[in-house]
Order: sequence, then C-alpha cells, then structure tokens
Amino acid sequence: MGHQQQSPLPPHVLIFPLPIQGHVNSMLKLAELLSLAAVDVTFLVSDFSHRRLLRHADIHSRFSRYPGFRFKTISDGLPDDHPRAGERIMEIMPSIKNVTASLFKEMMVATDCFRSDGRRPVTCIIADGVLSFAGDFAVEKGIPLVYFRTVSACSFWACFCFQEIMEAGEVPLKGNGMDLLVKSVPGMEGFLRRRDLPGFCRVDEVSDPRFQVIKTETRQTPRAQAVILNTFENLEGPVLSHIRTRMPNLFTIGPLHSHLKSRLLKEKTTTTLPSTASGSFWEEDRSCIEWLDRKPPKSVIYVSFGSITVLSRDQLMEFWYGLVNSGQYFLWVMRPDSIAGKDGKSQIPAEISEGTKERGYMVGWAPQEEVLNHHAIGGFLTHSGWNSTLESIVAGVPMICWPYFADQMINSRFVSEVWKIGLDMKDTCDRALIEKMVRDLMVVRKDEFIRSVDRMAKMAREAVSGRGSSYCNLDGLIEYVRSMVA
Ligand code: UDX
Repeated sequence: MGHQQQSPLPPHVLIFPLPIQGHVNSMLKLAELLSLAAVDVTFLVSDFSHRRLLRHADIHSRFSRYPGFRFKTISDGLPDDHPRAGERIMEIMPSIKNVTASLFKEMMVATDCFRSDGRRPVTCIIADGVLSFAGDFAVEKGIPLVYFRTVSACSFWACFCFQEIMEAGEVPLKGNGMDLLVKSVPGMEGFLRRRDLPGFCRVDEVSDPRFQVIKTETRQTPRAQAVILNTFENLEGPVLSHIRTRMPNLFTIGPLHSHLKSRLLKEKTTTTLPSTASGSFWEEDRSCIEWLDRKPPKSVIYVSFGSITVLSRDQLMEFWYGLVNSGQYFLWVMRPDSIAGKDGKSQIPAEISEGTKERGYMVGWAPQEEVLNHHAIGGFLTHSGWNSTLESIVAGVPMICWPYFADQMINSRFVSEVWKIGLDMKDTCDRALIEKMVRDLMVVRKDEFIRSVDRMAKMAREAVSGRGSSYCNLDGLIEYVRSMVA
C-alpha cells in the first residue's frame, strides 16, 4: 500500500474586527463565506461582543456546521458598563490601542498563532483596517496581512485623503464654510461639500485625536498585501479606480449580507435558508412583522438609526411629530440606549412609548433585513450606516438620510447626489422638514425614487450572482488565501 497521501491542511485565517456592532456584523459574514469554502477561521472578538452575540444571535448554532470555525475572545479594555454608544464610542480606539494590542501579541505568541487540534498556525490575518497593531504583528512575523474596511469605498477614500484635506486647510470645519466644495478628494470635487466629509473632520483642531487616529490608521492601509471592501463595482466604480491607484490588490465582495445568502442557497446546505442572523447585539422584537403584515404595500416608513446613534429628547420629539404629521405609517426602532440622558428611556414621553399602535409601531430592535424586504415597507429613515445603506439598496427601499457621525455623512451625500436613491437631511432636525421629506419620499416623488433604487437593487443582485463582479472577486480572494499555503 503506497504512503497514504494526507490531504493538505486547509488555510487558517484569523479574522479580527473592531468590536462594535457594524464592524462585527459584516466581518462575521466574511467569516461564514470563508468557512463555506472550507477555510479554517478563528474569529477574534471582544468578550463583551461575544456575550451579546451569544445572547441574541444564536451565533453558535449558525457556525456549528463549520468544523474549522472557532471564536476566540479578547478584552476591548472598556468596563462592561461603558455605554459603547453615542460620541463615547470613540473611546474604544485608545482603549484598543492601550489594552487589546498587548493582549493580542501575548495571545498570538502563547498559542503559537492559534495552532491547535490539528490546525495550522494562522496563515493569514484579515484585520479591521483600523487595527494597525494587528498589521504590525503580521508584518513583524511575516504573516500575510489583508485589511477589511467595513465602511463604503467613498468614506474610506475620503479618510485616506485626510492628509491632503488637512494640508489644504479644508479641516477643521468652520461653521460658515460647511457648504464650500472640497477640492482634496480626487473624484469628488464636483459635489462633496465640507459638511459631507466623514464626521471625524468635525473637530475644532486637526490635532484632535479622533481626526488623527482615523488619518493614521487609514493611511497605513497600503502596507497590506490586499484590501477587502463590502461594496460592488457598479455602485462605487469611479471611487474604486482612485483607490486602486494606491492599493491595486482590492477585493470588492459586497453586498456581503446578500452575497452570503446567495452562496448558502447555492450550497443548498439546508432546504430552508439557515438563519444568517445579523449578528445583533440586541433581542429582535418580531411582533413588528405581524404589524407589517396588515399594512398595504409600500405604505410604511421604517425608522432606525443603527447601533450607536443617540438622540436628544428634542430630536426625538421633532422626529415623532414629523412622522405623525406626515400621515404615513411608521415602524420605529427605539434602541434601549438611544435616548440621551442618564436613563434615556424615561425621557420617552408617554404618547410616544404607547405609540399610535394603528399608525406608528415601536420596537427596541428589529429583524432589519427581514423588515426592509417586507412588502409593506416603502421608505427607510436611516442614519446612513454602511450596512443599513447596503441592505436598503438590496431591498430596493429609498432612503431619507439623517447621518449622526463617522462615514454616515459621506454615505448620505452619495445616496442623494450620486446614486439619487433618497434624500439627505444632514444637519437639520425639524418636524416640518421631516414631514415634507417623508411625504416627498413616500408619495410626491415615490415613482422616481422607486425606479432608481430598483435599478440599483438589480445591479446589487447581479454583483453577487454566479458571474457577478463580487462573486468572482470572492472566488479570487479564496484562491489568494489558499495560495498562501500552497
Ligand atoms: C457602525 C457605524 O455607525 C456605521 O456608520 C458604519 O458604517 C459601520 O459601523 P451601525 O451604526 O451599527 O454601524 O450601523 P450599520 O452599519 O447600519 O449596522 C447596523 C446593523 O444592525 C445592520 O446590519 C442592521 O441590519 C442591524 N440592525 C439595526 C438590526 O438588525 N436591527 C435594528 O433594529 C437596527
């Protein structure tokens, strides 16, 4: 009997997101796509996030079908009772650098790069592009490094140009110059105003650590062997061509949530589509689905501001009266920690918490992908987080954008001015304008927006279909990961 040829051990990829909802969300989807391709994955997430995923996203049942998948946890350095919301979310950056960075290095060395039970040591590190200390380790140890940026290409490119924006004196943003056009971001000169720059530019001095940290982290991206973006060529082509002048080995594989669904269906791993729970950190309240089932097609506006946005009580009231006065049905996600103040929930006036069950329905957290694809939904009042924006595009739902911070400012400008699939309500919060925009989106200009977003939804479906750009790029990324161990 000849020597039994051992099948070569599969590649072993470490996936390491910044441990906040929006980043964990999309990188979990990448982890599942690689696991589907029989790549071993160690998913390194904070203890806090892991507990939330376990409690609310049946995460272990979702990944139990992949023998090569492992969760590993690490501290994000913040106390468990840290709000991890609102402006204070930025405190995670110094905490990660001061605490997590050294824990990470110790962990990698102590476990021989997670070599365990017959698996190779890590053969590739796919790190969130804002975790440069993981990049430092990879470079130092000669482990192939790939960065994943969970934001849009337009936001990533604007942040990559922070050095030039600063040298041109276009930041810090001064109150009166907000509508001046920005000249320092190639490809966006014709329509990007200063107010549309990523929220990190809204600082009094360029020495502000929130601006500096994003400038520094983003500028070091090109040292990675490759970069992954959760977008697709037909959505952000012009910006992607600018990025490729600095980072040619760029894999666009989005929209990841629909890409994962299409591959799971193709694999026919189960007759019904297994739950690709969004990796939610909160309990989803499914009672809203029955409420939607009783509503006419495209008659409801869905309102959700993501996992970080915090509203003041005044803003809450403006949205409430704007929505009620619009005369449209609305389904509103009131995330438990989304109202400013010591005990925000108590700030919610009675007439809101009871809601007008007939016209307005409130939940603490919704099954958002399912809601956006429900026949009753005709519009999305959103904060323009990137996952929400992609989910709305795929579902063919036009948007009203009320960006809160970070990449949301530039995403909302692209939705309204470039892709023309919604309205930008940036920097205002007034019940009369809210009422007008809801009626424009849902009634007055309904057909115009539905036509343009349906066109975009079709392109998104094509991108992740068998011969689509994102489908082919993901196959290319998998081959690239495999080539590292050949
Ligand atoms: C954060 C930043 O805010 C965002 O700008 C960046 O692009 C990613 O990181 P987040 O604020 O959480 O993300 O917004 P978003 O990117 O839209 O992600 C929210 C996720 O939570 C979406 O996948 C959405 O489907 C999900 N969600 C939201 C729910 O499942 N239920 C809800 O009720 C609300």
